[in-house]
Formats: sequence, C-alpha cells, structure tokens
Amino acid sequence: MPSMLVAYYSRSGNTEQMAEEVAAGAREVPGVRVDLRPVKEVAPDNLLSFDGIVIGSPVYYGTMAAEVKDLIDRSVKHHGKLAGKVGGAFASSGGPGGGNETTVLDIVKSLLIHGMIVQGDPEGDHYGPIAVGEPDDRSRNECRRFGRRVAELASRIAR
Ligand SMILES: Cc1cc2nc3c(=O)[nH]c(=O)nc-3n(C[C@H](O)[C@H](O)[C@H](O)COP(=O)(O)O)c2cc1C
Repeated sequence: MPSMLVAYYSRSGNTEQMAEEVAAGAREVPGVRVDLRPVKEVAPDNLLSFDGIVIGSPVYYGTMAAEVKDLIDRSVKHHGKLAGKVGGAFASSGGPGGGNETTVLDIVKSLLIHGMIVQGDPEGDHYGPIAVGEPDDRSRNECRRFGRRVAELASRIAR
C-alpha cells in the first residue's frame, strides 16, 4: 500500500494545523496510508518505509527550525536510499515576507540532495504551502490540495 509521512515541528500550533490539513488532503486519495507525526517522533530509519515524505516547519530566522534540520541531518544515515521517493515541504511564518518561501526551499533542497522527486505547483503556492500566523482558509485549502497532490504522485510512483 502506498504510504506518506507528514512530519512537522510546531511550538505554538500554526505549523501543526497546516500539517493536519496536509494529512487530511492526502487521506482523500484512496489506498494511501498517511502518518502524521511531530519530527521528534520520527527516526531516520522510519523514513525508509514511506513512498512520500512531507516536512513542515515554522520559519526561524528565515529558515527551518533546528528540530527539523536535526532530523534532516540525521537522515544522512540513509543517504542514497531515499532517492526516487516523493518529497514536499510547507512553512509557517510570523509575517508576510518573513521567509516562508525561503524556508520551504531550504527543506526542498535537502530532499533534492537525497534524490527525491519534488512536484511544483503552477496554480497554488508554487514551492509548497505557506501560511502567515494561524493558517487562514486560503492556506488551509493550499495545504489540503498539496497533500492530495503529493499523495497522488506517491501513489503513482509506488506502483
Ligand atoms: C526563534 C524564532 C524565530 C522566528 N523567526 C521568524 C522569522 O525569521 N520570520 C518570521 O516571519 N517569523 C519568525 N518567527 C515566527 C514564527 O515563524 C511564527 O510564529 C510561526 O507561525 C510559528 O509556528 P508554530 O506555531 O508552528 O510554532 C520566529 C519565531 C521564533 C520563536
């Protein structure tokens, strides 16, 4: 069965709400098993068992939180073994222009270095969903749509 992980860090709940929406969107795709977990509950070994891996972070000084970077750095244990899986990222900032797109791209860079496949979006948030503060309806819709698209791609790749 195709599977997808939504891993996130969140201190005040905004990124967590985005993660829940991403997971809900992914669960709309029939036949895909979706796990939603804080990064502290994800071990590098766990990454091997998913066809799709999506990572969300609050913006801290223009990039991802240290907790998210820590998981990515520890994933070096499996460098080369995540190639061909589907990846994606999302981020929550405190202000507009606060660095949410740079944060998404920083996470995406790590996934690309792992050899993962990252789908862009010609219509919605191009690099991955972003929110400013608590996700509003626009951001929630982006997250759901993103979750669905990543799960659909992961499902196709896993065949
Ligand atoms: C250490 C720290 C650094 C932050 N740096 C930024 C920043 O560079 N730009 C920004 O827009 N918001 C920044 N913020 C605000 C958070 O990104 C924002 O409140 C986010 O929604 C928090 O997500 P969370 O509720 O999932 O923890 C920072 C917050 C903290 C605690």
